[in-house]
Amino acid sequence: MVYYNIIMKLLVTGGCGFIGSNFIRYWFANHPQDSIINLDKLTYAGNLENLKAIEANPGYHLPSHM
Ligand SMILES: NC(=O)c1ccc[n+]([C@@H]2O[C@H](COP(=O)([O-])OP(=O)(O)OC[C@H]3O[C@@H](n4cnc5c(N)ncnc54)[C@H](O)[C@@H]3O)[C@@H](O)[C@H]2O)c1
Repeated sequence: MVYYNIIMKLLVTGGCGFIGSNFIRYWFANHPQDSIINLDKLTYAGNLENLKAIEANPGYHLPSHM
């Protein structure tokens, strides 16, 4: 894999679900300089506990207006 020294802003949908939350945790573990907007409808499948460990990360944003 080629890594570029650039800062990225990612938009993740469904990030509070199983796949999305694992992806977000993986991404911050490997790209701590990036930022992520997590757009999630918070249905029965969405669980804020999945991202408890990174919710204080300044690069993590969970808009609450959906
Ligand atoms: N522990 C486990 O092994 C486990 C747990 C859960 C799910 N799974 C598997 O994972 C797969 C599903 O994972 P997934 O992450 O795709 O789904 P998911 O159901 O886990 O999560 C979907 C996420 O999308 C959100 N969402 C739904 N509609 C939306 C909309 N219109 N706009 C924005 N957000 C919306 C939900 O609130 C939720 O957070 C399935 O194969 C399932 O069996 C495994």
